[in-house]
Amino acid sequence: MGIKTQLMTCYQTYFLTCVRTCSMAVPFVQDWDLIQTLGEGAYGEVRLLVNRQTGEAVAVKVIDTSQGKECSENVKKEICINKVLSHPNVVRFFGHRREGPTVYLFLEYCSGGELFDRIEPDLGMPEREAHRFFQQLMAAVEYLHSVGITHRDIKPENILLDDKDNLKLSDFGLATMFRHRGRERRLNRLCGTLPYVAPELLSKLEFNAQPADVWACGIVLTAMLAGELPWDQPSESCQEYSDWLQKKTYLSPWKKIKHTPLSLLSKLLQALPEERLSISDLKTDPWFSQTFTPLASHNKLLLSDRLLRDRNNSDRVQFSSSQPDPALGVWEGSVCVGVQDQVSFSQPARPDNMLLGSQLLGTPGASQTPWQRLVRRMTRFFTTLDTSASCSALRDTCIDLGHTFKHTCTNQVTVSTLDRRNNKLIFKVHLMELDERVLLDFRLSKGDGLEFKRLFLKIKQKLSDIISTQRIPLPVT
Ligand code: ADE
Repeated sequence: MGIKTQLMTCYQTYFLTCVRTCSMAVPFVQDWDLIQTLGEGAYGEVRLLVNRQTGEAVAVKVIDTSQGKECSENVKKEICINKVLSHPNVVRFFGHRREGPTVYLFLEYCSGGELFDRIEPDLGMPEREAHRFFQQLMAAVEYLHSVGITHRDIKPENILLDDKDNLKLSDFGLATMFRHRGRERRLNRLCGTLPYVAPELLSKLEFNAQPADVWACGIVLTAMLAGELPWDQPSESCQEYSDWLQKKTYLSPWKKIKHTPLSLLSKLLQALPEERLSISDLKTDPWFSQTFTPLASHNKLLLSDRLLRDRNNSDRVQFSSSQPDPALGVWEGSVCVGVQDQVSFSQPARPDNMLLGSQLLGTPGASQTPWQRLVRRMTRFFTTLDTSASCSALRDTCIDLGHTFKHTCTNQVTVSTLDRRNNKLIFKVHLMELDERVLLDFRLSKGDGLEFKRLFLKIKQKLSDIISTQRIPLPVT
């Protein structure tokens, strides 16, 4: 059964010069409202800011460089690389700002969320969708390579989608230049994420940049088509990898994949980098170059489609028509105004601040409605209990499953565990009161995105008795 989309439309409006949330502050944002945290990683956090005057939406990556010189050098490099890049399938960079040890990178906001949210554990996604995403991913990587840059950490968590489901390669924190003025250098640093790294990174002291990125794209394609990663790492001591080398494609994940895309995967996941398919050769591959006939109507009703339809029907219904759809799960439209840990919800105090004027078309985020700015994530649900009872139920479930459960902030818990491959998996759950219900919002902090989602589904299933599917009528503006 597919995952039901559970979306909460929460505008957390802070009309403050200095926005402070759980861990970090964003100064100088007089005209920008902090809407939500979009993600977090070792570097810090990514937040969504919406301009009150213009309605523009940007993502701001907040990096704390106080850990050392190496960290600030890395950020400088990330900024430098971002400045060079301009491609429709690469997250746009608007600029940066430094405030003491904190660096802010202003980036294109991708309201479609992460690619890994579109991958159903153990199933993947429809082949035509995977094909489209893969073509766009390869366009991004081909472009990067053409300007001499390698990403070095391609994985679904670093692949975002915009409001039209266009793929945007993101996070150039590990990227580097491998070609300058026509001269190419080999790389020697082992970096990236183990299930996505190419075998030569583990077995050779030096390797070429481009085939390593191509390998990672092959792993992403496998995840999209089969909903699982093929191995922990590509070393012969790893049984699944050694099975692949022996062409045991009757095993999972390969047995779930049709012959034509599997034939492409066997060329992308070629152990020897010199025998691996290059991006220029990719274009002759039958699966890659095939055209899927466009669907007359998407079989899944996307939030953005629905919102666009609503908007076309009437501007007025923008804030009233987005009732939860039992077929989709629940997604509410309400506006959250308040301060940390003390949220209350109502219509926007000044919705016009978030609505867009036609003169703004072309500016960041201007093509999106306020609803579309809200990131589409599936790892959340409402409960029928109050905050404290919801938290207890979550704690009991996590403990039953053998996870470590800790309160890290008011209304925020951190759960740590090991995934099926014994890799560390850490995620946070924010508990928020909305319209007399409690929203449990799960976010990955560390570990594999697919494993996180698998675990989320397990927890959700165990908590099914307390999950709310109630429709909440929204006030009309
Ligand atoms: N998460 C990380 N970066 C993001 C971005 N630019 N847009 C949306 N979500 C993100």
